[in-house]
Amino acid sequence: MSESLDATTTNADATVAQVIDTIAETTTDVRTAIFTERGHSDSVNPTGDEQLAADIRADEIFEQRLLAIDGVASYASEEREAVATSAGRLHVAIDPLDGSSNLEPNSGMGTIFGVYTERPPTSGRNLVMSGFVIYGPVTSMLVARDGCVREYLLEDGAKRLVDNEVTVPEDPTVFGFGGGVDSWTDDFETVAESIRAELKLRYGGAMVADINQVLTYGGVFAYPALMSRPEGKLRLQFEGHPMAYILESAGGASSNGDGSLLDTEPTELHERTPLYLGNEQLIERIEAAVER
Ligand code: AHG
Ligand code: MN
Ligand code: MN
Repeated sequence: MSESLDATTTNADATVAQVIDTIAETTTDVRTAIFTERGHSDSVNPTGDEQLAADIRADEIFEQRLLAIDGVASYASEEREAVATSAGRLHVAIDPLDGSSNLEPNSGMGTIFGVYTERPPTSGRNLVMSGFVIYGPVTSMLVARDGCVREYLLEDGAKRLVDNEVTVPEDPTVFGFGGGVDSWTDDFETVAESIRAELKLRYGGAMVADINQVLTYGGVFAYPALMSRPEGKLRLQFEGHPMAYILESAGGASSNGDGSLLDTEPTELHERTPLYLGNEQLIERIEAAVER
């Protein structure tokens, strides 16, 4: 590697590390927002979801802190229409508060993030790191980078490594499918029924927590194409790609029904996608059933 290429890589690595640490530090303020900003706002986000005050506050804090990092060129968020820009080489995409409808019943929520080498909308193959935070009974963080997934506990914004190599357990135990049986296609319903007969249901309304069940116990999470909504519910750039990168780095698989989510490139920033994430054999089974 030439010296200048070497320096570029080192700079990019330093920026990625700073993004991870900044998100970790910011979780203390997001926890505060979860506590103080419990009300509804009068606005909706670009995919039409009603925004809570906490969604807006979390987005503001992340934008301010992440865009201030040397080397971060842009900040794209599920909660804002346009990409915010600065000078740099790497691009952050974020779902500031995932599962915010869990705020009212005080259930799990999270933050999902990814760093791309190209400005979104862009292919999942341009991810260099992704991860998520869970604001659960404790605050934890998962980071996928260089083919490896690590888990940390966050205490006052500081990371403590608890698992150096998170992998999807080979023997699947749990499943969680969104959208509701009445909305599923016949093809998905058939495969869902056979999986339901084998595994235990875990569905909490926040994909961060449901995906973490899959990473902990093995299994599958899906938000499929629905009859009334063939494009599904979840957003490719902010939810699909980062989670696919984590699952695939942990030895699992991802699909949009036709192939890996990482091979897909949205034409619009806020594009939705059907998604299937978990143990490889289960994803292959679902793909075979729903393939168009
Ligand atoms: P967000 O709060 O960022 O809009 O995401 C909510 C998502 C996802 O976390 C969860 O799996 C799914 O929506 C739940 O949807 P349903 O309420 O339809 O089950
Ligand atoms: Mn979300
Ligand atoms: Mn969200």
